[in-house]
Amino acid sequence: METKTSAGVVIWLTGMSGAGKSTIASALVNRMQTFALHATMLDGDVLRTGLNSDLGFSEAERSENLRRVAHVAALFCKEGFVVVAATISPEPEHRESARKIIGADSFVEVFVDTPLEVCERRDPKGLYRRARNGEISQFTGVDSSYHPPTHPELTLRTEESRVEECVDQIVNYLTRTRRTLNLV
Ligand code: ADX
Repeated sequence: METKTSAGVVIWLTGMSGAGKSTIASALVNRMQTFALHATMLDGDVLRTGLNSDLGFSEAERSENLRRVAHVAALFCKEGFVVVAATISPEPEHRESARKIIGADSFVEVFVDTPLEVCERRDPKGLYRRARNGEISQFTGVDSSYHPPTHPELTLRTEESRVEECVDQIVNYLTRTRRTLNLV
């Protein structure tokens, strides 16, 4: 299939561990590919096994982690990719610095708004349990903060919307705001 060219964009998903970021990101990348767009996912968990495997979860290390993610996203974006980044990025400063690195025109901040108690109930990796037991520290939502965006471009509520509905919301947003993407 011939792949379309378009101006790149970075969909920056932020939210707590277990919020559903990776699931939504992966479904969004699949959807973009059905539109014949180049799309790729930058997943915090995956990047932390390689590029960012030297980093932990202190404030300084999270900042460095997210600085690298933003630069990689910017490179793909310049090549015309739809980049879907899925990281906790817990502080407004992280997201603002990513927005600067990537360029405000290409940056879409999406808050995956899943309450802590829901993330903790899901606990897909058993990390909340381990954090509550004191086996891991600096865990977001337990002993490290998460400050939600105040003016994200989009908010997704995973308790109310299924994955494909969340993807629809992002696609609708992109269709409304980014004519260059030509998602029809
Ligand atoms: S961020 O804060 O720097 O944006 P990132 O998204 O890369 O975090 O990585 C978060 C993932 O790392 C979580 O989904 C979880 O699987 C894992 N993880 C391991 N330890 C922690 C911790 N202390 N706090 C948050 N996530 C952790």
